[in-house]
Amino acid sequence: MYLPFKIFKFILYTLLLINSILCYDPPKRRLHNSVIIDDRLLIFNGITIADTSELFYLDLSKSFDNSNLTWTLISKGSPPVYTSRSTAVLSLDNSTIYLYGGFMKDKNTLDYDYSNLVYSYDYPTSTWSAPKFDGDVVTPRQDIKGVIDNSGIIYIFGGYNATDLVNNVGPLFNTMNTLNTVTKTWKTLSISGNPPTVCDGYAANILSNGNIVYIGGVEQVSDDANFTLVNMKKIKLFNTHTYQWSQMDATGVDVDPRWYFSSVLTPDGNIIIFGGSTRNFTSVSPNLAVLDTNKNPFEWSIPVNSKTNSPPSIRGHTANLYYDYMIITFGWNTDAGSYSSLVYLYNIKSNNWVTTFFPPENKPIITTTSTTDKSITTSPPEKKSSNSLAIGLGTGLSAAVLITCGIFLS
Ligand SMILES: *[C@@H]1O[C@H](CO)[C@@H](O)[C@H](O)[C@H]1NC(C)=O
Ligand SMILES: *[C@@H]1O[C@H](CO)[C@@H](O)[C@H](O)[C@H]1NC(C)=O
Ligand SMILES: *[C@@H]1O[C@H](CO)[C@@H](O)[C@H](O)[C@H]1NC(C)=O
Ligand SMILES: *[C@@H]1O[C@H](CO)[C@@H](O)[C@H](O)[C@H]1NC(C)=O
Ligand SMILES: *[C@@H]1O[C@H](CO)[C@@H](O)[C@H](O)[C@H]1NC(C)=O
Repeated sequence: MYLPFKIFKFILYTLLLINSILCYDPPKRRLHNSVIIDDRLLIFNGITIADTSELFYLDLSKSFDNSNLTWTLISKGSPPVYTSRSTAVLSLDNSTIYLYGGFMKDKNTLDYDYSNLVYSYDYPTSTWSAPKFDGDVVTPRQDIKGVIDNSGIIYIFGGYNATDLVNNVGPLFNTMNTLNTVTKTWKTLSISGNPPTVCDGYAANILSNGNIVYIGGVEQVSDDANFTLVNMKKIKLFNTHTYQWSQMDATGVDVDPRWYFSSVLTPDGNIIIFGGSTRNFTSVSPNLAVLDTNKNPFEWSIPVNSKTNSPPSIRGHTANLYYDYMIITFGWNTDAGSYSSLVYLYNIKSNNWVTTFFPPENKPIITTTSTTDKSITTSPPEKKSSNSLAIGLGTGLSAAVLITCGIFLS
């Protein structure tokens, strides 16, 4: 082989390699997990066209347009199991993700594997482990949403446990299980008074007063009844100080009942819900609604501009709040009958859907440790990764990489 050809091949392969790292194109998915740590929207697991478990992120320290996203793969960050319909909760110090529940599958055999109900991801070292929790025995659950209080206790209400994994049949629960991330113990709380009806597929948010607000989802009113959707005005409240349940009848506009929807709690006490579907997976209205928890009783409203440029009806997506933006990722487009690959941005200050993300200008300096997976995750990637990989090839190659990267993305 002639030397020029060898060099050409080397450059070509290097370009392809760098492209695959810098311009990671994640498989579309639904029923996945998303967590924000350091300026990164981390995404993992879920149901994809083929089983995948990569951990990748969207960099929120830079502005971007939602039609031109740059995803970055954290190569060492793949969770040890495939799981969907699970819940992922961030520790109080923003260092650890606790992943619990869902349909867990062994990545090699693809058999269901419930040998560990909890996996944790240490962000600074980019390592997953299966920590052991003492205490009460807790069974697998699907379609749950965990929330963490300010003492590091994760609350997991109800959920589904598919016992017949072929026909996907199983019971719903109304238990309140807690995972203490400090003492590493499970507890099934003993509840005085009336617990709510068995339920899953709800939205959960913890208010600053320690009350957890549960909205929507499905319930089963008696043993022989079908699963039916919960009225969105029948709000369940759990007091994490007294372990008591109560119900509140919210006021305001009517919101179609739904499951597989998302919610975020804004700093000023509004819970913004988005998407979801009916029991039989048809679309719901309105797509977006706001529950004001400062009012007593809570009040539903639909922001006037929230229907303009609204995303389609999506279910099984996730929503995360980052400063002024509610960020919607992936999910299933109910009307089109296909995966949603876009990221949608709702500005919670101007109350409208936008297409461009701008990082906050006066953001306080966050001092959390950065990941060690430097070759892949240092940002901005074009400054470090491509230079280190392109050693000896000069800046011309770096420029070429960025150009091909742009083409690769479009
Ligand atoms: C897409 O985003 C990249 C990185 O942010 C940027 O360099 C590029 O110019 C953008 N492309 C278009 C077509 O806007
Ligand atoms: C964790 O992150 C949140 C949001 O970014 C921030 O408000 C909080 O101060 C962080 N906590 C710690 C202990 O760094
Ligand atoms: C939950 O499901 C698992 C199998 O997925 C089964 O082993 C376990 O007995 C079930 N527990 C309950 C309480 O139904
Ligand atoms: C449950 O749903 C099925 C199918 O829609 C229906 O035939 C059946 O009557 C329902 N059962 C009850 C108790 O409502
Ligand atoms: C699906 O649910 C919607 C709303 O609950 C209902 O109007 C519709 O008739 C249902 N469709 C089927 C096929 O059951």
